[in-house]
Amino acid sequence: MPSFACRSLPITLLALLCCLGSGEKAFEVYIWSEKHVVEAWESWKVNCSTSCDNPKVGGLETTMSKMMLEEHPQGKWKQFLVSNASHDMKLICHFTCAEQQRSEDLNITVFQPPAQVTLRLQPPRVIVGETFTIECTTLAVKPLESLTLTLLRGRETLQNQTFEGTELEATVRFNSTALTKDDLNFSCQAELDLRPHGGYIIRSISESQILEVFEPIQDNQMVIIIVVVSLLLFLFVTSVLLCFILGQHWHRRRTGTYGVLAAWRRLPRAFRQRAM
Ligand SMILES: *[C@@H]1O[C@H](CO)[C@@H](O)[C@H](O)[C@H]1NC(C)=O
Ligand SMILES: *[C@@H]1O[C@H](CO)[C@@H](O)[C@H](O)[C@H]1NC(C)=O
Ligand SMILES: *[C@@H]1O[C@H](CO)[C@@H](O)[C@H](O)[C@H]1NC(C)=O
Ligand SMILES: *[C@@H]1O[C@H](CO)[C@@H](O)[C@H](O)[C@H]1NC(C)=O
Ligand SMILES: *[C@@H]1O[C@H](CO)[C@@H](O)[C@H](O)[C@H]1NC(C)=O
Ligand SMILES: *[C@@H]1O[C@H](CO)[C@@H](O)[C@H](O)[C@H]1NC(C)=O
Repeated sequence: MPSFACRSLPITLLALLCCLGSGEKAFEVYIWSEKHVVEAWESWKVNCSTSCDNPKVGGLETTMSKMMLEEHPQGKWKQFLVSNASHDMKLICHFTCAEQQRSEDLNITVFQPPAQVTLRLQPPRVIVGETFTIECTTLAVKPLESLTLTLLRGRETLQNQTFEGTELEATVRFNSTALTKDDLNFSCQAELDLRPHGGYIIRSISESQILEVFEPIQDNQMVIIIVVVSLLLFLFVTSVLLCFILGQHWHRRRTGTYGVLAAWRRLPRAFRQRAM
């Protein structure tokens, strides 16, 4: 046994030296991706290349759909079109050169922009002094930890919230009180900050919503106005009716007089003169 160990040790050392030696002269593998942050279902180009002059095999490993676009005649590089990414993933380029395989990987972040930002006011109209709730929701945003929802009144920030986890929906709520009778203009901004992943900021803003604010006395005034208008209407209708009835009455009396007058007129002139 010891003799075998003594003989195998130099072999192991030799093997180690050999491998280190070839390691120094080892070829390189490169991965180039048109994008590091991609929108879900987008497609983009990836180029796998090597410093090896005559690689045996090489390619791209991914769970996504891929299609080779172009290839170097000696196989020193291969360009692919990668598509259909639905979640974060790793791309791996590999080449085999002189019986040795090497690979290089790259992380790809998949995002889904905040497409639909909805703002809701509950209730949509209040009386001065009443509380109301502003609620903003956005659907299917990725990555959620890059999302910030900001509630705005005009240009003023009321509240902002950054999210975590894997839910598909993000909601922010804010309770407030209407202090003056001025209508309030609210909106909600969704911001997806992809800078930590090598991307940019994507912003989406909801349609603005107006909170109608009423003065509490306005309701009493409304009641008074309604009562007064009803009274005036009643008086008007009554007077019209009275006028009509009285008019009819007067008309009948007048017609009666005319009857006598007409009969008088119908009498021959001689009679009338005699009667006079
Ligand atoms: C792929 O990358 C290699 C090395 O950088 C480059 O020489 C080659 O032109 C690239 N291929 C394409 C199609 O861009
Ligand atoms: C993309 O992925 C979906 C499911 O994730 C699949 O149904 C569809 O066939 C894929 N499309 C392509 C072009 O691979
Ligand atoms: C790629 O992502 C994995 C986790 O999925 C992480 O451990 C690794 O450090 C990342 N690599 C780079 C180059 O960011
Ligand atoms: C509410 O504010 C938004 C932007 O802040 C503006 O575009 C919109 O015209 C405003 N609406 C009203 C009714 O003032
Ligand atoms: C969120 O609000 C804080 C102050 O409350 C502010 O410092 C921060 O910049 C805001 N973030 C965003 C993304 O607007
Ligand atoms: C807002 O008010 C409602 C009741 O009107 C309450 O259930 C909710 O917890 C409040 N939210 C906040 C953030 O204060």
